Amino acid sequence: MEKERKLIITGNWKMNKTVAESLDLANGLVRELKDVTEVDIAVCPPFTALGAVSEVVIDSNIRLGAQNMSENGYGAHTGEIAAGMLKEFSAKYVILGHSERRQYQRESDELVASKAKAAHEAGLKPIVCVGEQLEDREGGRTEEVVGTQIRGSLAGLTTAQMEGTVVAYEPVWAIGTGKTATSAQAQEVHAFIRNLLGDIFDEDTARIVRIQYGGSVKPDNARELMGQADVDGALVGGASLDVKNFSEIILNSI
Ligand code: PGA
Repeated sequence: MEKERKLIITGNWKMNKTVAESLDLANGLVRELKDVTEVDIAVCPPFTALGAVSEVVIDSNIRLGAQNMSENGYGAHTGEIAAGMLKEFSAKYVILGHSERRQYQRESDELVASKAKAAHEAGLKPIVCVGEQLEDREGGRTEEVVGTQIRGSLAGLTTAQMEGTVVAYEPVWAIGTGKTATSAQAQEVHAFIRNLLGDIFDEDTARIVRIQYGGSVKPDNARELMGQADVDGALVGGASLDVKNFSEIILNSI
């Protein structure tokens, strides 16, 4: 499948996997995906397994990401993790503003924007998540909600930083529910986001930015979703916890 932008497919392991289980999963993925060059692949284990997984993937085509980080540098922030600490494990990406953090840790667009800025300053590429709740969609407010999140969460980034940022559109009603947005629904919001990035930054930047879809991506719906013009990859939760499922999502997308 010829795409304008190289696909990026990321596994978000969330709060799952012991170190031993993480090693099994990472080793299996390295084995199954070693010949893939067409897609950028990344896995985001829990913090506790970053060191172990880093050693497994370091010489492979699989990159490492984290699921969150602090907006602050090193210092007195008990329980937080600084970007520089993630860099120690050769992490390349960091997921920011996932809907679970927005909902349960009350992360605001403003906080996500300061984390995105701090990530870039440390040399990490943020994957900034946005997405509407079911009642927003049913009330016809999807574009209003996603538009506000995009403007707020990417505020203050330079165009160069924006080009190195991945946006993940994850409708909250599709996360972990088995309900995927149809490929047409995904494409519609992705095109809206790209248009908006053109307004906020410029057309060239908007053309370069990769926009992932997330929300119940599985081996059997990946191909159709990835086939949409403005869908440039996937952020995969549940199905990324299994070697076969995550590998098939990637192989089916090529
Ligand atoms: P899911 O999660 O694939 O389990 O729906 C996606 C995500 O939350 O990133």
